[in-house]
Amino acid sequence: MRRTAKCGELRSVDAGREVVLNGWVQRRRDHGALIFLDVRDRSGIIQVVFDPTESPAAHEVVSHLRIESVVAIRGAVRLRPVGTVNPQISTGEIEVAALDVHVLNKVSQLPFSIGDGTEPDEAVRLKYRYLDLRRPRLQRAIVLRYQITKRIRDFLDAQGFLEIETPMLIKSTPEGARDFLVPSRLSPGDFYALPQSPQQLKQLLMVAGFERYFQIARCFRDEDSRAERQPEFTQLDVEMSFVEQRDVMELIESLLIELAQRFTSLRLREAPFPILSFEESIARFGNDHPDLRFGMELVDLTQYGKQSNFTVFRTAVTRGGQVKAILAPGCAGWSRREIEEVTERARTYGARGLVSFAVRSEGVVSPVGKFFTDQELAAIVHTTGAQLGDLILAVADAPAVVAKVLSRLRTDLGEQLGLIDKGELAGCWITGFPMFEWNEEEQRYQAMHNPFSAPIPEHYDLLMRDPVKAMAQQYDVVWNGMEIGGGSIRINQRMYLEQVFRFIGLSGEQIRERFGHMLEAFDMGAPPHGGIALGLDRLVMLIAGEPSIREVIAFPKNSSAQDLLFGAPSPVDPQQLLDLHLAIMQDQP
Ligand code: AMO
Ligand code: AMP
Repeated sequence: MRRTAKCGELRSVDAGREVVLNGWVQRRRDHGALIFLDVRDRSGIIQVVFDPTESPAAHEVVSHLRIESVVAIRGAVRLRPVGTVNPQISTGEIEVAALDVHVLNKVSQLPFSIGDGTEPDEAVRLKYRYLDLRRPRLQRAIVLRYQITKRIRDFLDAQGFLEIETPMLIKSTPEGARDFLVPSRLSPGDFYALPQSPQQLKQLLMVAGFERYFQIARCFRDEDSRAERQPEFTQLDVEMSFVEQRDVMELIESLLIELAQRFTSLRLREAPFPILSFEESIARFGNDHPDLRFGMELVDLTQYGKQSNFTVFRTAVTRGGQVKAILAPGCAGWSRREIEEVTERARTYGARGLVSFAVRSEGVVSPVGKFFTDQELAAIVHTTGAQLGDLILAVADAPAVVAKVLSRLRTDLGEQLGLIDKGELAGCWITGFPMFEWNEEEQRYQAMHNPFSAPIPEHYDLLMRDPVKAMAQQYDVVWNGMEIGGGSIRINQRMYLEQVFRFIGLSGEQIRERFGHMLEAFDMGAPPHGGIALGLDRLVMLIAGEPSIREVIAFPKNSSAQDLLFGAPSPVDPQQLLDLHLAIMQDQP
């Protein structure tokens, strides 16, 4: 019963052949005497007919068989009788008349059915992921992921890149998250860290002279769960020597366009991708990963807030805040309840409130209209470009709050009002990031991307004198409102790297202990270099048109970073802890 044919590959020209199929029973229909099985393997599905008059033993075996059992079937391919052809499937013109069957694995019970299109609860899907993965949607996603990865390898190989593996057991290489730690048995009390990215290793490969490196690299970050993040994820990691920012950007853009054209039917909105500065992106969209498939840009109304009699606006502005608005086209007729709903949503995003101005034929209608003169209202309408029938939604607050609230409302309303053309792919680059940002929680500056990013050539001097003002040679690439990659040209001289470490608050001792190996390497012939990493899971998700990266990862963790299939994380044997010289502290009540 060795397999001689694949279910999905048989066609009418095969009629008359005797074949052995191996696969899963997707469906069983008992038509009195005849039993029909739909048998599936990776290639597809075919109908097999069991006739008790021709092969009574085989008929008897399958008469009790549960679906998803694994079978080997010997039979003859034949054309289906006229009128029973199924144009929905590629093998719909033929069927296999069974002569013999072996059950290779019997199903006792299934937690959910594979074929009927019902969507089980995600926890159940993840617990029985091997079943979930049998479903056509996931089969497609995993195959697509492989094809994309293979195309990436071929593309970069043709450009002279080498794929080089780097270790998983290393010392912390920071990307802004917590490390996952691995205790060392041989060196009691010491720990490895799993890499948050291969950042330092790829830079050292440049020092080693490989010039063009890439890796489909596993990264580990212990973060609180957020949308489109996994504790363990995959990057296409790239590093190049003797390049400028635009060399890296051009290479990656051509790869991305090639992938989009090969694997999607999306229309590119603009190529080459537009380049926005960080500042411009925040000003126009409220974030640094704008969705350029639709307008609804943020409009600055701060000047009207300053002089207005509306205290909410005036106070916000005198405290250094802003008043900004977005325009919901055609929403001037919204009911009070609809306005309340969107206001509530703004509050959950951190706003203290939301003010609406509806441009109606009877004039500008606003709950706070009485605080504004007709001229002021006319000026607000003019500045926002509102037309009759539009609704202006304004927020007054600190700039960061205004940006966050309006960017999220913009995305929500873009979706809700159907302004987003789902057939489009809008890519863009964000550049012109500051090197450092203030971390309010820790009351210190931190590197905006990572500490290895170089300043723009004319800001090396600023980095030494007034680092807060220094701009980085950093670039993020965005697709349809999602950051899919980021990178930078790196510092390749010890003095400047030391300055960055000092500025983000590391002591001389900490610098030596954590990054001594990098500083040393940069004294031994480090070429100018730079690179980027693309989030492969996100990229595949967008290409596959899936709503979550979990749909394109074979064995993802749930949103609490748990592996529901294996039940990890889990307690370990006390002896293992002893071997590692570890003891578990009980939380104090
Ligand atoms: P960065 O931290 O920006 O850069 O990561 C690069 C890209 O990886 C994806 N990504 C994630 N995807 C899923 N789950 C996560 N938890 C997660 N975190 C990040 C994003 C992101 O754009 N070493 C630098 C790159 C460089 O400078 O070359 C780095 O890791 O799509
Ligand atoms: P209040 O003074 O809190 O009654 O608010 C009056 C109106 O202003 C309500 O419609 C609030 O939603 C709105 N509002 C309050 N604070 C803000 C703010 N920071 N930005 C925009 N609108 C606000």
